[in-house]
Amino acid sequence: MRTVVKGSGFVVGEHKVDNHQLARVCDTSDQWIRERSGIEERYYVADGTTTSDLGVRAAKVALEQAGVAPSEIDYVVFATMTPDFYFPGCGALLQAKLGLRNVPSLDLRQQCTGFIYGLQVSDALLRAGAAKKLLLVGAEVHSGFMPWAKDWDIVFGKREGRPSDEDWAFSTRYRDRTVLFGDAGGAVVLEAGKDDTTGLLDVSLHSDGSFAEKLYVPSGFAWRPYLTEAMIREGRHIPEMDGKQVFRMAVTKMPEVVREIVAKNGYTLDDVSLLIAHQANLRISEAVQKALALPDERVYNNIQRYGNTTAATIPIAYDECRRAGRIKKGDLVCFVGLGAGFHWGAALYRE
Ligand code: ACO
Repeated sequence: MRTVVKGSGFVVGEHKVDNHQLARVCDTSDQWIRERSGIEERYYVADGTTTSDLGVRAAKVALEQAGVAPSEIDYVVFATMTPDFYFPGCGALLQAKLGLRNVPSLDLRQQCTGFIYGLQVSDALLRAGAAKKLLLVGAEVHSGFMPWAKDWDIVFGKREGRPSDEDWAFSTRYRDRTVLFGDAGGAVVLEAGKDDTTGLLDVSLHSDGSFAEKLYVPSGFAWRPYLTEAMIREGRHIPEMDGKQVFRMAVTKMPEVVREIVAKNGYTLDDVSLLIAHQANLRISEAVQKALALPDERVYNNIQRYGNTTAATIPIAYDECRRAGRIKKGDLVCFVGLGAGFHWGAALYRE
């Protein structure tokens, strides 16, 4: 048997915010963000909405499409790098909020490759008979690390004016990364298929932890206590990112792992109907497409509308493609991603 997607769905944060709105709270511009990243707008949650809430909302959409009742779900795998709490993880929170039975709930922390790791873990659980109907969720609320904490009203247009000079300078310090991210959640309902011709064919995964500090949040249980006022003032609740290094790794490792999984399964790149790459930067996706010499109609990009939504990105893109008819029965879909860790990987799925 092979693992198949029975239903998919996604949701975004409540507030749509374009690049001009970000230019109200830090020194950036619509032109810079579009030219360097391709992003035009992203969504942020309303006050009080959490990652597990977005996960629950996305799961409801996926369950409805699947025609599966919450009571039928017997396993939860939740990928996020922005959990509601340090602990417990979002899997358990989703289990309770969705009113599931007391089923096992697992959290994964593989950032932008979280959903692809989730596919392999879920597939193994289904094949081992540990689960029959599994909910795989990727969701993120990145707005918690945005430096303009006092100025959300200005971003949303609820208050006129400009941040204090100090707050403006603080937000501008992080503009290379903050403008890239948005809040969203995606989910799929997975189960064992009827035959071995359709469904998840393979997953190839890699990690290199020697790059951990090229993209990370420099606070946590390596410190006593794990968060202090001084750390907040120093901005250590906000990710540190070596953008150029991430960019180089992404444009090298993503084509490499696509070639690896395609060859391992006896295919060529010509057999791939659609490539869905993690959406971190349109320039990265274009470089990956060029390296693989794929025509536009066999690559899907939606970063323009959502920014980087980390673990939610791939299920969102997949759901959009399914609903828009971009993926048809029999198509060979390749997912690929790279993110903090570094972790990277690819999956092949026969619709
Ligand atoms: N608005 C205006 N100017 C900016 C902004 C901004 N938002 N950000 C940076 N700049 C300025 C810089 O200060 C610099 O100015 P200077 O020349 O006066 O010093 C100039 O723009 C160029 O900056 P670079 O950092 O050289 O710009 P680059 O072309 O490398 O683009 C970027 C930066 C977009 C971050 C790119 O490196 C990138 O996308 N890297 C990958 C990032 C990524 O994918 N991260 C997420 C990984 S996913 C995960 O696991 C969470």
